Amino acid sequence: MGVGEPRGGLPLRLKNKVTVITGAGSGMGKATAKLFAAEGAKVICADISGKQDAVAAEIGNAAVPIHTDVANEGDVRKMIATAEDKFGRLDILINNAGFGGPMAPLHEQTAESWDRVHSVNIKGVFFGMKYGITSMLKTGGGAVVNISSASGVVGWKHHSIYGAAKAGVNQLTKAAALDYAGMNIRVNAVVPGTMWTGLVKMSEEFPEPPPGTFRLPGIPMDRWGRAIDIAAAALFLASDEAAYVTGVLLPVDGGYCIGFSGMAAENTGAPSS
Ligand SMILES: NC(=O)c1ccc[n+]([C@@H]2O[C@H](COP(=O)([O-])OP(=O)(O)OC[C@H]3O[C@@H](n4cnc5c(N)ncnc54)[C@H](O)[C@@H]3O)[C@@H](O)[C@H]2O)c1
Repeated sequence: MGVGEPRGGLPLRLKNKVTVITGAGSGMGKATAKLFAAEGAKVICADISGKQDAVAAEIGNAAVPIHTDVANEGDVRKMIATAEDKFGRLDILINNAGFGGPMAPLHEQTAESWDRVHSVNIKGVFFGMKYGITSMLKTGGGAVVNISSASGVVGWKHHSIYGAAKAGVNQLTKAAALDYAGMNIRVNAVVPGTMWTGLVKMSEEFPEPPPGTFRLPGIPMDRWGRAIDIAAAALFLASDEAAYVTGVLLPVDGGYCIGFSGMAAENTGAPSS
C-alpha cells in the first residue's frame, strides 16, 4: 500500500478534521490537500495563484478554495474565518506557501527581495499562526505544521535571504510550541530538502524528474524528493499519532542535513558522532 492509496478498511487518520493549507495550488500544498482529504479531512485550499480552484474541484465536497495572499494580514484572517464559517472550527493549519526569491550572492540581493521573500515565507507563517492559533484556542486545541526548508538549517549558496526567513520559521515553530504546549496545541515543522515541485522550474514541463536528472549528487539518498514525501510527514505531525510531539523540526531530505554535518566533520577532522 503506497502513501495516499486506499487503506483497506483502516480508520481514517484525519476524520472530519478541519484543515487550512496555504499554497495548496501546487507542489507540496496540493499533495497535502489531496492526502488529507483522502484521510477524511475537510480542507480549505488557500493560494494566491488561482490554482486552488482546480485542486478543490478535484477533491470535491470536502474542499473549499480561497484566494489568499499570506503576506496580507486581512487575507489570512479571512482564510481562518472561512474554516470557521464553513466547517465550524479549525483543527489543523499547514503553513506551506512560500517561494525562493532571486538566487544571487548576498551583496547582489536587494531590499525589495528581502521584503517580499520575508513577507511571504516568515511573516505569512506568523500571520497564519496568529489567527489559526487564536481560532484553535476557542475550541480547545489543534495542530500547526510549518513547511520550512533545509536552507534554514544549513547554509545554501545564493539563498541567504530565503535561508534567513526559513531559519526564522524554525524559531517561530519552537517558541510557539512552548507557548501552547499546555493548551493542547502542537506546533511542528517539516524541513524539506530538494524537492521536485513547482519551485523547481523544470517540474512545470516534467511532472516527474526526467531520466538522468532524478539522481542528485550531494543528497545521501541520491535523488530528488517528491511532494508526497512532505505531505506524508505533515500527515503524521498533524494527526493524533503525533499527540506527544511538539516543537520538532522534521527533516524530509534524503539524509541531506545529517549528511551535510557528516561531510563538514570529515573536512575539519572533527568527530562526526
Ligand atoms: N521545492 C523545494 O525544493 C523546497 C525545498 C525546501 C522548502 N520548500 C518550501 O516548501 C513550500 C512549498 O513549496 P513547493 O516546493 O511546493 O513550491 P510550489 O511553487 O509548487 O508551491 C508553492 C505554492 O505557494 C503559493 N504561494 C506563493 N506565494 C504565496 C502567497 N503570498 N500567498 C499564498 N500562496 C502563495 C504558490 O502560488 C504555489 O501554489 C514552500 O514554503 C517552499 O519554500 C521547497
